Amino acid sequence: MPLLFLALLACPVSPDSGGETAADTGSDTAADTDTDTGVEEELTGAELYEAHCSACHGDDGTGVRNQGPNIVPELAKLSDDQIVEIILNGKGRNEMPAIRVTEEEAQRIVDFMRESF
Ligand code: HEC
Repeated sequence: MPLLFLALLACPVSPDSGGETAADTGSDTAADTDTDTGVEEELTGAELYEAHCSACHGDDGTGVRNQGPNIVPELAKLSDDQIVEIILNGKGRNEMPAIRVTEEEAQRIVDFMRESF
């Protein structure tokens, strides 16, 4: 009987040391994740359009009912600078809101629309 009791007492010791190893691995993984986030910051024009415009103007620019008009015919009439201006400042009275992207990102969206629509 006393021998069995000792064996049971010995058991809880090993999970403790295992726990420390797991904690070290955890912090390494967290550092890796931070680095990844920095690299992903640069979004393509397609990704930016999808995130900021497609809900109102549709995936192909032809518009969404009650949200935004078909902009494909308008794009041909507007210069890059005029479109960037519309993106950054919005258009109409509360019709199209100013979109929160940088001027550089707005230009990337224009490039995407000119290539794809
Ligand atoms: C919340 C809905 C909404 C979002 C989001 C939105 N738009 Fe618009 N957009 C509109 C509406 C509504 C108009 C029409 C405004 C007017 O003429 O009064 C418009 C007008 C435009 C026009 C001008 C068309 C013309 O007649 O001259 C362009 C170009 C345009 N949007 C591009 C974009 C781009 C690019 C994005 C993303 C960066 C975007 N819009 C995001 C609703 C939206």
